[in-house]
Amino acid sequence: MTNASGRPLDAKRAHAIAAAFRPDGRFANRWNYFYTRTKLSSDPLYPAVADALRGTHAPLLDLGCGLGLLSHTLREDGIQVPYRGVDIDAAKIVHAQRIAARAGLQGVAFEAMDLGGELPAHRGSVALLDVLQYVDTPAQVRILDAACAMLDPGSRLFIRSGLATPGWRPRVSKAFDTLAARAGWMYSPPRRYPDEALLRERLDAAGLRYEIAPLNGNTPFNNWQIVARRDA
Ligand SMILES: C[S@@+](CC[C@H](N)C(=O)[O-])C[C@H]1O[C@@H](n2cnc3c(N)ncnc32)[C@H](O)[C@@H]1O
Repeated sequence: MTNASGRPLDAKRAHAIAAAFRPDGRFANRWNYFYTRTKLSSDPLYPAVADALRGTHAPLLDLGCGLGLLSHTLREDGIQVPYRGVDIDAAKIVHAQRIAARAGLQGVAFEAMDLGGELPAHRGSVALLDVLQYVDTPAQVRILDAACAMLDPGSRLFIRSGLATPGWRPRVSKAFDTLAARAGWMYSPPRRYPDEALLRERLDAAGLRYEIAPLNGNTPFNNWQIVARRDA
């Protein structure tokens, strides 16, 4: 296993992207803005997804898209593939639509959907970023199998997830995710972080080529990236 490059955005780019997440009113809640700016300047996730998608043309489905931050970072990085984000949290989807419109993003769409119960039809690339821990193991398997089946040659599956590994990092990840749910920022607390063996089993069963590497950057979390592709 090799370390992924793991560099977050510099402060200037993080600030420019986060600006669209500012609230309209002077006294409105600025949490989304500060959270986004801090996340972009500390977490190497979004540049890593951009690197994996650079040069591809297939539409991207972002499963569990949250506020659609990925669509902003991709456009800022010059990656113009059609983008569709789905998330269980209908309030976040409304926000995501509003923020994308404010930023003038083209070719992006958002939709509320519970991935525990249904999976969208799609062919192309798929992003699954920090979502798997919110569903139980059978749903993790269904989501992974569906995501793998969506890949065409030339597209990518990018998964970022905590894994059920030993050490202090998994404890930090779980504590943060639990706190985020208590604070109302996450729809639900984490259920189960997937096993690396489960991920490998599903990706192998789908016949994909893939690499798994740590993606922690400057964060104390237990984050891993999996980039998978289907050979022609
Ligand atoms: C940690 S956030 C990650 C957001 C986004 N993927 C990102 O990295 O910027 C996890 C997201 O998964 C969503 N989520 C949790 N359970 C879900 C489900 N069953 N179906 C769809 N989305 C879900 C949450 O609402 C939340 O927006």
